[in-house]
Amino acid sequence: SSTTIDTEDKMTQVCEVLQNSISYYDWVGFYFANETEKTLHLKAFAGEPTDHTVIPFGKGICGQVAVSNQNFVVEDVKAQDNYIACSIYVKAEIVIPLFKDGKNIGQIDIDSHTIDPFTKEDETFLEWVNKQVAEIL
Ligand code: SME
Repeated sequence: SSTTIDTEDKMTQVCEVLQNSISYYDWVGFYFANETEKTLHLKAFAGEPTDHTVIPFGKGICGQVAVSNQNFVVEDVKAQDNYIACSIYVKAEIVIPLFKDGKNIGQIDIDSHTIDPFTKEDETFLEWVNKQVAEIL
């Protein structure tokens, strides 16, 4: 429906604003869960296109957050064994679950080319971003 397109456009704009305004946010995307298939689907992003538009629950950093419902801050992706590489330049990643009516329905995923760049402030800020996005869903 046109409502869905409009929402995805808005989420793309959110991704672009974040990627353009924070120097160490090199790739920003929103994945949403398909509860029947147990998969995450990329709905909006800013940065280089990725092959990983569908991710099974449990796989990679994103898939783990779909199951854990917890923030996941990865200081150094090389130290992770359950990790899906999207680009050789990525050094760190942060994934924050997105809750709608108390349910983990998706997540914001940010890749950084800087090692260990994410702080508690990023977590708090991205939790707030997700709350704003949940309001338009
Ligand atoms: N690195 C993620 C996959 C998504 S890309 O970062 C865009 C992961 O391990 O789940």
